[in-house]
Amino acid sequence: MNITWLGHSTFLFTLGDRKNVLIDPWIHGNPKSPQGFNLPHIDAMLLSHGHGDHTGDAIAIAKKDACPVVCNFEISLWLASKGIETARPMNKGGAQTVAGLRVTMTHAFHSSSMQDGEHVVYGGEAAGYIIELPDGRRIYFAGDTNVFGDMRLIARLYEPDLAILPIGDLYTMGPKEAAIAVEFLGVKHVIPMHYGTFPPLTGTPEALQELVGSDVEVIELKPGEAYAY
Ligand code: NI
Ligand code: MN
Repeated sequence: MNITWLGHSTFLFTLGDRKNVLIDPWIHGNPKSPQGFNLPHIDAMLLSHGHGDHTGDAIAIAKKDACPVVCNFEISLWLASKGIETARPMNKGGAQTVAGLRVTMTHAFHSSSMQDGEHVVYGGEAAGYIIELPDGRRIYFAGDTNVFGDMRLIARLYEPDLAILPIGDLYTMGPKEAAIAVEFLGVKHVIPMHYGTFPPLTGTPEALQELVGSDVEVIELKPGEAYAY
């Protein structure tokens, strides 16, 4: 499969059967969205929480491609109010299969809300996902969060092989906490996200690599670049 970073926290998974799964879609207004990238037909979407930098294009894509949208219950209600009937709500600890992927919702420490005109709509709790591929490998997508001790529980339960972690600081953990997350998760491969989008998101892959040492591979992608996994 290919994992393509579309800047910030937006990732496109292109599976072996050519199915496309989009995580935390934010394309319009995303300063790091790759120029000229043509989004393929999306077969499933995953949303970690309600903030606009994770859901900005969710409604437009869900309308265009009529794809299942995995999200928490509260976000599914919000999507329904916008005419999206394909939400696949779930909550932490639960799992379901979409586009051939077994997806488990995990904990995250963060807020979650949607801006709707002048109103702020409650977005349930922020989450992460364990994404199990058809071959049994598991990817942990942390969403927006700080480090937390129960990442050890995620490691024990799901033994992820690859972690996609925020490192930008300010709104999420920075490299120092991400290095502890890597240790708790027991992963040897990390794709950093949620950094460099705006000047205040100062964490860098180099800083994380220095902290985790050479035993762990920090995979630094450019926006639009695909990692063959
Ligand atoms: Ni957020
Ligand atoms: Mn965010």
